[in-house]
Amino acid sequence: MTTKIAPSILSADFSVMGESIKKLQAAGADLIHCDVMDGSFVEPITFGGQMVKNIRPLTTLPLDVHLMIEHPKTQIKFFADAGADIITVHYGACAKISPDYLEETLKLIKSCGVRCGAIVNPDVPVERIFPVFPLCDMVLLMSVFPGYGGQKFIPAVLKKVKKAREYALAIGKPDMDIEIDGGVTEDNAAQIRAAGANVLVAGSAVFKSPDMAATIANLKK
Ligand code: DX5
Ligand code: ZN
Repeated sequence: MTTKIAPSILSADFSVMGESIKKLQAAGADLIHCDVMDGSFVEPITFGGQMVKNIRPLTTLPLDVHLMIEHPKTQIKFFADAGADIITVHYGACAKISPDYLEETLKLIKSCGVRCGAIVNPDVPVERIFPVFPLCDMVLLMSVFPGYGGQKFIPAVLKKVKKAREYALAIGKPDMDIEIDGGVTEDNAAQIRAAGANVLVAGSAVFKSPDMAATIANLKK
C-alpha cells in the first residue's frame, strides 16, 4: 500500500496557520491531521470546528480530524459541516458512556457523508475495536498517550498494527487505512510501515524539520 503522511497542525504556529497549511501541501503532505482537544478527555484545549472551517478553503488535501474529546457524538455535526473528510473518535471516550456509543458515533459520522475511524490508546488492546472494523474506513492506533506533541514513540504498538492489518485482511478489508499517531520520526517510519500501517501522523518531525519536503519524502520511503 502507498504510505500517506498526515502532518499534525498541533505543532504549527497557530498565529500563521493558513501559511502552514499551504506549506504542508506544497511539501507533499497527503492529509492534514487536525488534533481537537477539549481540556477534559486530555488536558490541553486546542481548537474546534471553526479552525477546520477556516482551513478548509486553503487546501485540497483531506482534513483528518482526530477528536480527543468527551461525548464525541455531540460534536460530529459541527466538524462534518466544517468540512472534515475523516473523523476519528477514541474508544476510551465512548466506552465510558455506553457499550454502543462507539458504534453509534461511527454510524453518525457516516450518515454525515464523512469517513470514520476508531482509536485505541497505547494501553488498550486493538481487539476492543475489532467489532467496529466493518464500519471503519480507518483505525488509528496511538503510539503515545494523547495530549501532547513531541513525545517518544511506544514500540509495543507495532504488534497491534500487525494484528489490525491481519484482522482487516481477514474480514475482507485489505485496503483499510491503519494510522499511527505519536512519536513518528524518519528513524522509525520504516518499521511502522513494515508492521502494516499506511497513514503516518507526524507533528514535530515535520514542523521541526529544516526541509519539510525532504522529511515527508523520507517518511514515505
Ligand atoms: C497527540 C496528537 C498527535 C501529535 C503528534 O495527542 O494526537 O497527533 O500531534 O505529534 P508528534 O508527531 O510530535 O508526536
Ligand atoms: Zn493526533
